Amino acid sequence: MDKISIKGQRQLSGEVKISGAKNACLTLMPLSILSPETLELTNVPNLSDITTMQTLLRSLGTSIKYNPEKSSLKLTTKNITNCTADYEIVRKMRASILVLGPLLARMGKASVSLPGGCAIGARPVDLHLFGLEKLGAKLKLKDGYIIGNVRGRLKGAKIKFPFVSVGATENIIMAASLAKGTTVIKNAAREPEVIDLCNCIISMGGNIDGVGTSTIIIDGVDHLKHTSHNVLGDRIEMGTFMLAPAIAGGKIKIRGCNTDYLNSFIEKLVETGVDIKKNKNEIIVEKNIDVLNPINVITAPYPGFPTDLQAQLMTLTCFSKGISKFEEKIFENRFMHVPELIRMGANIEVQGGTAKVTGVNKLKGAPVMATDLRASVSLILAGLASSGETVISRVYHLDRGYENIEKKLSNCGANIRRFK
Ligand code: EPZ
Repeated sequence: MDKISIKGQRQLSGEVKISGAKNACLTLMPLSILSPETLELTNVPNLSDITTMQTLLRSLGTSIKYNPEKSSLKLTTKNITNCTADYEIVRKMRASILVLGPLLARMGKASVSLPGGCAIGARPVDLHLFGLEKLGAKLKLKDGYIIGNVRGRLKGAKIKFPFVSVGATENIIMAASLAKGTTVIKNAAREPEVIDLCNCIISMGGNIDGVGTSTIIIDGVDHLKHTSHNVLGDRIEMGTFMLAPAIAGGKIKIRGCNTDYLNSFIEKLVETGVDIKKNKNEIIVEKNIDVLNPINVITAPYPGFPTDLQAQLMTLTCFSKGISKFEEKIFENRFMHVPELIRMGANIEVQGGTAKVTGVNKLKGAPVMATDLRASVSLILAGLASSGETVISRVYHLDRGYENIEKKLSNCGANIRRFK
């Protein structure tokens, strides 16, 4: 298994181009199941999760042409030859559940392995099932699989989610796009990746109103057609790279994502005293004060503070003066980075869903272990600012969501390398 070594305390300077959004691709790719015509996606990042989703879709009958040089994917699902999403694939990537709605809409049947939990939580899918049953699917659990059947065609319905779920919203939007009649989703997720999915469906001939709001109205159509869609930039990758100069020092320009999608994160970063110059699709971040201010963060569904940037921002507060507080309200176990940061000298106390961070003058490089995607990148950020060498193991977690991270950071002056 690969490891990454970082020799820290080097000022950063340069420019980073953000890749396409992993979490948008993981719903746009299963969207191709809904149409027999080709869905072309451009600005697709070269990540292991994208490869896993390709494997899953191919197993269902989708033909896929991936051009890594052009970062494009052409997905054509002329016929579904298999309606079973196998446990061996699903267990590697929870987003596999997003084939359930499209399969029920296109084929009227599906058998999808329950995804199971992951490091950050149990990750139930009850809201996905709740919404699909409202659309008329008959679902039962058997031997660890969700077995779904539809008599005739899915029918539009009124669906009110008890709380916001990105994946459940995406599954229902896709299924409802081919249902008979109108579906109204209340308490829908408003994440930019959901907006991107809706825009792609509309360009395929779908009818969706309320895009980006918490009430989404979908008028089902009989057929979705070919389109070419440019995947939006990855706001979580952009936020992650914004923290590199903020933590290690220096000045970096980051481009390739609509910065309006990061307003709640930027607000917090400005509160720490970091200097930010924001344009529409690029942002310049510079640390030009010695010690940063402490902050209080509560994660929330979009447009609140994104849970996917909580671990990374916590790394920055390890160096702030005073006490910062993080309340993780989305997932029940998303502080796996804390014990590893403590190994590097951080002063963090966790009680339930709250972490109290007392700033220290410095962190010291150490051997640490990645546990989940965002925790692993928070350790890279810590290594950039720490004295000595930090060696991170189990970096396969990182490869799920960050394309060429070592290259992007070493181009900005970081001493970072991957080794076996
Ligand atoms: C998406 O996960 C993202 N993944 C996550 O990013 C992100 O952290 C999360 O949304 C929140 O923004 C993808 O888009 C592939 P949810 P998702 O359904 O859809 C509970 C990353 O690092 N819940 O909005 O699974 C759930 O347990 C990943 O890139 C139910 O109880 O998140 C969680 O506590 C990590 N029942 C909360 O809701 C359900 O049926 C929000 O989950 C579904 C969810």
